[in-house]
Amino acid sequence: MAIQQSDPTVLVIFGGGGDLAWRKLVPALFNLHLDHLLPEQFAIVGVARKQRDDVSFRQHLRAGVDRFSRRKPADEQQWERFAAHVFYLADDFSDPASGPVLSGKLAELEQGWGGRANRLFYLAIPPDMVPAAAAHLQRLGVCRDCQRDRLVVEKPFGRDLQSARELDRLLTGMFAESQIYRIDHYLGKETVQNILAFRFANSLYEPLWDRRYIDHVQITVAETVGVEERGGYYDQAGALRDMVQNHLLQILCLMAMEPPVSFDADEVRNKKVDVLRAIRPIRPEEVHQYAVRGQYGRGSVAGTAQPGYREEPGVPPASPTETYAALKLYIDNWRWQGVPFYLRTGKRLPCKVSEVSILFRPAPHQLFPAAAVENWQPNRLIIHIQPEEGIVTRIQAKQPGSRLLLGPVDMQFRYRDAFKVVPPEAYETLLLDVIKGDATLFMRADQVERAWKIVEPVLEAWEAVPPGDFPDYPAGSWGPESAELLIARDGHSWLQPAIKPE
Ligand code: BG6
Repeated sequence: MAIQQSDPTVLVIFGGGGDLAWRKLVPALFNLHLDHLLPEQFAIVGVARKQRDDVSFRQHLRAGVDRFSRRKPADEQQWERFAAHVFYLADDFSDPASGPVLSGKLAELEQGWGGRANRLFYLAIPPDMVPAAAAHLQRLGVCRDCQRDRLVVEKPFGRDLQSARELDRLLTGMFAESQIYRIDHYLGKETVQNILAFRFANSLYEPLWDRRYIDHVQITVAETVGVEERGGYYDQAGALRDMVQNHLLQILCLMAMEPPVSFDADEVRNKKVDVLRAIRPIRPEEVHQYAVRGQYGRGSVAGTAQPGYREEPGVPPASPTETYAALKLYIDNWRWQGVPFYLRTGKRLPCKVSEVSILFRPAPHQLFPAAAVENWQPNRLIIHIQPEEGIVTRIQAKQPGSRLLLGPVDMQFRYRDAFKVVPPEAYETLLLDVIKGDATLFMRADQVERAWKIVEPVLEAWEAVPPGDFPDYPAGSWGPESAELLIARDGHSWLQPAIKPE
């Protein structure tokens, strides 16, 4: 019988007491509950080492929902109804001698429901703990049904090409590829998905979408936050592993991919892998021309003084880890030959903004007098991913008055104004897809490996030569000077965000 979204389902969260479950997963599940999208027979089982009972676990999660849910605070009755589906299990999955507590809990739930449930195992744990958790599932034999049982693995998947391959070998030795959901939450964001709709449901822009009309593309993912409580993890990762290898390259794929024949999961993923395969490899001796790193020092963001990265909790005082990374990439195919794609991301930048700017080539003939075009700017299309989701087209217009003077004006579409709803959080979309068994928005092993291949020369070069000048940008600035030079060498400059957060 085919698997249905309404089938009894149990979601086991390894790392149930952690930050991801608290801030993102459970608030997302609570919103799915409010929207009546969860099966009637549904349970969430948080697994972690610490001893605690269901009641205190539910209280802890409630505090997270009240703080982070898009519909906060939780309504008392709704919360009670939801919380009745939530359980806690103390289990040390890293200990091969640990008993079958998890299988016992699953059996108990399924007995109550009168049949086998779809079992989803979410590994919300640091990357180095994934093998132990997977081995635990295999030992218990609870994730064997290729149709019903799924494993969700958080990014970063491995820490380089080799470790990603090893992890893959390990997981595919235990589970079928179709059971493994490699999550990149950027793919669940409404506006990231809207890139596909924008490109392939409209005929207006696609004819312009290539090297003949596009001069270059900029992808910016800027954050105001520092490393928060994740210093230990982040210091091992850095911006290139934490953001570029996954989120930014995924956005790049959606911008640059060829039109898929259908919306079938593998068809879309094949087209994205084609983009990664076409990215020109960066040769070791060229890394400095294509990649830039930086680390924030003390400064202030929105008027509040902030410590330097090396003063953050869990970060060694002489850490060489980058909190900013910028890359220039070329895609060697017919469509994009010669068009640079500039990617940048950083922590403690002046505002939180993720956007893609497409800069078009100038009009082929300048017929206006020089005085009329003092403020001239090339056409620009901006896809604004967050926080103010929307699309802006910047065009030239005659300014009112007797003089002929041209200036840029914006045509804007804002999600908020057009649809009058707050879009669901990325994790709501993705968790629902895992429940339904739809892998379209998840990464396939070959995609992850390709992405590692692209950043690997940079990782290696940076590891071989520790930075001599860190910290090199103050918190609250737009990053290191070297990032300006990276793009200025080609005669361009980084663009300021188009829609100002209110
Ligand atoms: C996560 C990174 O994947 O994405 C974090 O590990 C980062 O370091 C976060 O802060 C950004 O996500 P969002 O949805 O806030 O843009």
